[in-house]
Amino acid sequence: MKGIILAGGLGTRLYPLTHATNKHLLPIFDQPMVFYPIQTLVQAGIQDILIVTSGPHSGDFIRVLKNGKELGVRHLEYAYQENPEGGIADALASAEDFADGEPIAVILGDNTTDADISQAVEKFRRGAVVFLKEVTDPERFGVPVFDRKDRKKIIRIEEKPKKPRSNFAVTGLYLFDNKVFGYVKSIKPSKRGQLEITDVNNCYIKASKLQWSELKGFWTDAGTFGSLFHAGAYWAQKKFGAGLQEED
Ligand code: G1P
Repeated sequence: MKGIILAGGLGTRLYPLTHATNKHLLPIFDQPMVFYPIQTLVQAGIQDILIVTSGPHSGDFIRVLKNGKELGVRHLEYAYQENPEGGIADALASAEDFADGEPIAVILGDNTTDADISQAVEKFRRGAVVFLKEVTDPERFGVPVFDRKDRKKIIRIEEKPKKPRSNFAVTGLYLFDNKVFGYVKSIKPSKRGQLEITDVNNCYIKASKLQWSELKGFWTDAGTFGSLFHAGAYWAQKKFGAGLQEED
């Protein structure tokens, strides 16, 4: 399986920090944000990775990541999304040639987790898999609506609902077969003017091809000041707890 990290956008929720660089290169404790999703993929055995980026600071990525070898990436490619406000599904559209018909693992570049997705990656054959996490503020995320009779079945996903129908967030980690690019082409921009990944996932639900798995471990996005701080605090505590020493 190939890996795709979506690391575009303007990061307006983090102005003025993102005037200086791309959101995904801001620090989460001792690493640039984008290292975390790369490490999640590499740990799952995915070593062919595409970074899709956009916006005024896209050139910064190559300075930080170079060819990816230091992070265990065998083959690192970059793609440029023309419209930084086009949305997650629009960014994914730029990955079609890279995917080359193979299944893909997609991670949003501001999602950090210590969960191991290797088993899900190994088991994956076709359709789509979304990873859920129970949260206290589901209205900030894509939220699954479960079937009343069969609580294991998702009947649709609602993007940032005012009244969430469950306490789960659809995290920014997804496994897709190559049908994903057809679905991306079939959807229309949402009210916020973006092509939403939630609409792509709803296409898989309509085709009865969406499965889900609960993410075991810590997960957060880091696209707001609160979540960026929370992510940094978690990783600092985890790494110091594991004996990380400060050097002078
Ligand atoms: C995006 C997705 C949302 C998902 C979230 C996870 O939200 O649209 O469905 O739950 O990532 O981080 P955004 O970061 O665009 O607000």
